[in-house]
Amino acid sequence: MTPSPRLCAMTEAVRALYDRNRQRGDAPWCGLAYDFVCPSMGTYPFQWFWDSCFHAIVLSRFDVDRARTEVRSLLANAQPDGFIAHVTFWQRERFETLLSTYSIAYRTPYLSDCIQPPLLAEAVAAAATGPGGDAFLAEVLPRVRRYYEWLHDVRDPDGDGLIATLQPDESGLDHTPKYDRYLGIERCALADFTAAWERVAGPYETVGRDHDAMFALDRFVVEDVLVNTVYAENARVLSELLRRAGDPTGALAWRQRAQATTAGLVEKCHDPSDGLFYDLAGAREEPLRVNTVSSLLPILLPDLPQAMVEGLVSHLVSPAEYAARFPVPSVAMDEPSYLAPSDESTLVYRGPTWLNTNWYISRGLRRHARADLARSIEHGSALLVEREGFREYYDPTTGQGFGARDFSWSGLALDMLARLEEGHAT
Ligand code: GLC
Repeated sequence: MTPSPRLCAMTEAVRALYDRNRQRGDAPWCGLAYDFVCPSMGTYPFQWFWDSCFHAIVLSRFDVDRARTEVRSLLANAQPDGFIAHVTFWQRERFETLLSTYSIAYRTPYLSDCIQPPLLAEAVAAAATGPGGDAFLAEVLPRVRRYYEWLHDVRDPDGDGLIATLQPDESGLDHTPKYDRYLGIERCALADFTAAWERVAGPYETVGRDHDAMFALDRFVVEDVLVNTVYAENARVLSELLRRAGDPTGALAWRQRAQATTAGLVEKCHDPSDGLFYDLAGAREEPLRVNTVSSLLPILLPDLPQAMVEGLVSHLVSPAEYAARFPVPSVAMDEPSYLAPSDESTLVYRGPTWLNTNWYISRGLRRHARADLARSIEHGSALLVEREGFREYYDPTTGQGFGARDFSWSGLALDMLARLEEGHAT
């Protein structure tokens, strides 16, 4: 099928964006070369974990070699135990002044000490397509597997299949209102989030950021719905990668883990009274009953029971909650905490539409035979980029772009547009 002029234009726009945001060089601190796409030159010039995975997925649409390079840079500083930092500060010295604007826990001056939603297996699967894919897979798979083994061994101490985040930024949804009560946030100002973050990260420093001790402190232990949906999906994808690489035993083990995580979400996070999925907080696993986009994410899971899929769809199509002109808002519009974006606020995930969650939700809808709804999200996402450029997030009502400019993962519009034209099932 010949790509449409619309798809060609989007491909060229993303290619140019990824050239502008490309970071290449040698890092004396680790003696390695780097080559990756940063999220945005203005605010995020370093390598972020889940951003980079999205970038590799987008790159695989038009330059699979660069998709592989992106993954290689992400894996370059994987730790012997499997851990991969959520930020690698490759060229830290060049952007020293920006660091004071972040709340980040450091493992070393060049590596953060936390995780982000674990979509590495999906990035590797995308980068391992086409000629040379098997060799690439063989090269990276041991480190990819070790990373997921680390998550399984270290982040699920209660063995319920759900991994836990230990600070709010590990979910990638830094200021989401779903944590407000748990974190004691009362006013919606950046200073309050910074203070709340410090109330969590401070005590962790006193125990040397040792994982068992951090869990024991019980300051912020969240079995997060978005993180676990991504984990379940990636456990399934990892299982497929292991099978492809000739390891049926590993494949079976990870298939079972994927099922265990889905079962954990279904049995522990789903609320039958409203059909939404809620994070579980603290040792007592209290549900964080705030209606955010994260509650809808399990629609991605192919083995989600049909009745639960229908429950999620009913929220998605509700004009009061998520059926905005430019869906899908990151918080239900009828939640008291919903906040339309503005130039004054730098808080993220409190209402605006983001293209990474749109990417997951539209793929989930296709998997569950709701291509009609998927198409409107895919089309709407592409339209946002065509009108406003690659912004960090968009107003769900007006479509106006906000936050960082030239924001790389909004290039997912390309993948969504391609699916729209190809009529994909997944
Ligand atoms: C913000 C987002 C996080 C993202 C990072 C870089 O911190 O909350 O999810 O990875 O910016 O784009």
